[in-house]
Amino acid sequence: MSFERVLVVGAGQMGAGIAQVVAASGRQVLLYDPFPGAVERGLAGIHRSLEKVEAKGGAPTADVLTRITESTELVAADLMIEAISEDAAAKEELFRAADALLPDTAVLASNTSSIPITSLAAVTSRPERVIGMHFFNPVPVLQLVEVIRGLQTSDETAAAIVELVRDLGKVPAEANDFPGFVSNRILMPFINEAAYALLEGVAEAEAIDTIAKLGFAHPLGPLALADLIGLDTCVAVMDVLHAGLGNPKYAPCPLLRQYVAAGRLGRKSGRGFYEYP
Ligand code: 3HC
Repeated sequence: MSFERVLVVGAGQMGAGIAQVVAASGRQVLLYDPFPGAVERGLAGIHRSLEKVEAKGGAPTADVLTRITESTELVAADLMIEAISEDAAAKEELFRAADALLPDTAVLASNTSSIPITSLAAVTSRPERVIGMHFFNPVPVLQLVEVIRGLQTSDETAAAIVELVRDLGKVPAEANDFPGFVSNRILMPFINEAAYALLEGVAEAEAIDTIAKLGFAHPLGPLALADLIGLDTCVAVMDVLHAGLGNPKYAPCPLLRQYVAAGRLGRKSGRGFYEYP
C-alpha cells in the first residue's frame, strides 16, 4: 500500500498539524473542512508552525504549504485521516460517506481520542481497512502516533500504517481497540483527578500544575494540558471511558462539565482553567 495522496478531514489544530507533517513527508494533502473559514485558519496555523520549525534551523519548509490543497468536498485519495470533533455520530456519517467515495483500496483512518475504531469500521464495507492513527498535540512536535487496530483491521493495513508513521518521522505504538486505548485511559483520569483536586479545594490550579511539572517532570501540568487539549474533548473522552468501561471512577468531574457548559473550553475559547488573553 502506498499513500501518495492523503485526504485530511477537519482543519482544527489536530487536522492542520496532521496535514503539515504529511505534506512535510513529500505527500500531496487535500485538506477538507465543511465549516466556513476553517481551512483558512488551519493553513494560517500551519504557516506559523512552519516558521517555528525554520526558526530552530529545521529543513526548509517553503514547499510544504504548496503540497496542501484546500478541498471543498470529500475527494478520492489513497488514505483518509479524519480529525473532526469527538462526536461518534458525526464520525460515523463521515466514514459512511468516505467509504462510498474513496476507492476500495483506500485506508480510512481516524485520529479519534477514544471513539471505538471497530464501530467506525462497522459502518463501512471495508472494516479490514479502517484503523486509528492517534496523533498528539502539537502534532509537528510530539513524536508519538498511537496506532489502534479495530477488531477487523487486517495485518496488512496495520503494517502499512506503522510504516507510514515511521516515514512521517514519528514513532508508532500499537494498541487494541478498548475505550480510551492506552493514552487516554491513562491521561484523562489524571486530568480528571486534577480537576477534582481543584474542585475540592485541595490546592489552587497553579499549585496543582506546579506539583506535576516539578514533581513528575511533566512539561505541562494537567490543568494547563486540559486547556491545550480542550475541556470539551476531555469531557467527551471521559464519557466514552465511563460508558465503555462501566466504572463510576471514569465519570467526568462536575467542574469540567460546568466549565464546558459556560463555554470555558481552554485555549481555543480564551479561557479554561487559565485565561489566554
Ligand atoms: N509547531 C512547530 N514547532 C513547535 C510548535 C508547533 N506548533 N510548538 C512548539 N514548537 C517547538 C518550538 O519551536 C520549540 O523548539 P526548540 O525547543 O527547538 O526551540 C519547542 O517546540 C518547544 O516549544 P516552546 O519553547 O515554545 O515551549 P515549551 O518548551 O513549553 O514546549 C510543548 C511546548 C512541546 C508543546 C510542551 O509544552 C509540551 O510538550 N507540552 C505537553 C503537550 C502534551 O502533553 N500533549 C499531549 C496532549 S494529549 C493529546 O494530544 C491526545 C488527545 O487525544 C487528547
